[in-house]
Amino acid sequence: MGSEIKQNFPSGNLTVSVVGETLRSAIEGGFIREEDTAVIFFDLGFLETRLRYLESCFPQCALHGLAIKANPLLRVMEHVKGMIPNAGVEAASIVEVAMAIKAGYQSGRIVYDSPVKTLPELEFALKTGIHINADNLSELGRIAQLHTALASPSDFTGSVGIRINPQVGVGTILESSVAGEYSKFGIPIRYRYAELEQAFLTYPWLTGVHLHVGSQGCPMELLLDGIGVLYDFVINVNEKRRKSGMPAVSVFDIGGGLPVSYKSGTPPPSMQDYARHIATQYPLLFNEKSFKLITEFGRWVYTNSGWTVSRVEYVKHDPGINTAMLHVGADLFVRECLNPRDWQHEYSVFDRYGAVKTGCDDQPYNLAGPLCFSGDIIAKNVPLPRIEEGDYVVIHDTGGYTFSMWSRYNSRQTPRILGYKENLFEILKERETPEDLQKFWK
Ligand SMILES: Cc1ncc(COP(=O)(O)O)c(C=O)c1O
Repeated sequence: MGSEIKQNFPSGNLTVSVVGETLRSAIEGGFIREEDTAVIFFDLGFLETRLRYLESCFPQCALHGLAIKANPLLRVMEHVKGMIPNAGVEAASIVEVAMAIKAGYQSGRIVYDSPVKTLPELEFALKTGIHINADNLSELGRIAQLHTALASPSDFTGSVGIRINPQVGVGTILESSVAGEYSKFGIPIRYRYAELEQAFLTYPWLTGVHLHVGSQGCPMELLLDGIGVLYDFVINVNEKRRKSGMPAVSVFDIGGGLPVSYKSGTPPPSMQDYARHIATQYPLLFNEKSFKLITEFGRWVYTNSGWTVSRVEYVKHDPGINTAMLHVGADLFVRECLNPRDWQHEYSVFDRYGAVKTGCDDQPYNLAGPLCFSGDIIAKNVPLPRIEEGDYVVIHDTGGYTFSMWSRYNSRQTPRILGYKENLFEILKERETPEDLQKFWK
């Protein structure tokens, strides 16, 4: 593995000393060039260890459809495909589906979840043989239309499930909770139980259920409750389908949502505990003869494997507060800048040669970005060692939902993205050029 991990392995965070060692190697190896004012790093060894652990927690035939939205880098998708045999992807748009195909994922390993799929997109998905989770009953109606219209049943190679909102409640972050009384996603089970049941008794090809309770901020118990609601529903529906001679509902997609820790001293819930609880409370889900289980983890897989470094361009010393001016801000850390109460990281400081700085300056720091609005501050009032121009500030645990949420405001170039395994570096994505940006705006 080659990586020392702070605690609670493999659910923990990369240590400052491990990150520092990699930073020094990258500087010495010339991987951070003068123009690389910021660089994003991915520890591919750590990622592989985590994926193997995930695989070991669930039945062997489970499909782990990793949420592309957490990390859409094509090169990472290619790497992940080879890391565990049952790696798949969860795509939130038809372009993500196309990217997965490009990265070499077989259609049976692609789960397509967008809430606004168009008719041509649905037709493409059905013909390509991927697993579609319909978001609502109207979408199901469109799939039924296509099913009737397609020339021969062999054209219809994809499988179909439906997203159900179990209405079990919200977590601590409202904006990323999707299983409350109301959600824009899925069909609310309590309000639409009869219609849902009718759909399953009408369409023999509707063989899957899908839920996703939320992303970060949702306790494990809430995720388990959500699974329980759909489990009871499926057992009831399967009994009725059996009596009507229909095939059983056999695809159970539990979504993602297991939280990670952005603070090294606070252990997150363990994936092993989560899987054990599922196996104990809903045993048929771990029985390969009854169900094909799909997971859609994103944050848990990617977040702790990545970190971002920015060179410090200037430091301002004002009464009561210092401000370190960085080369990434709300362009890379959209949620951190707009909703700082819920999204915080750990930070460390290194000198220009990559030596870690210790101690604490006499005033705290604001870590400010380069963008033209006052909310472009990644973190406020952070106690840090004394920062000087040319130092590096590391933002830890940025491997999920950071680069994928990049904002184009102020036309900043996306940073170089480096992967590494035991200090062997690979460019996962090159820094954007000014020409790339001009093309974007053209
Ligand atoms: C449908 C769906 N599945 C899976 C995920 C991944 O969630 P997480 O990254 O928290 O595991 C999301 C993210 O919000 C989602 O919307």
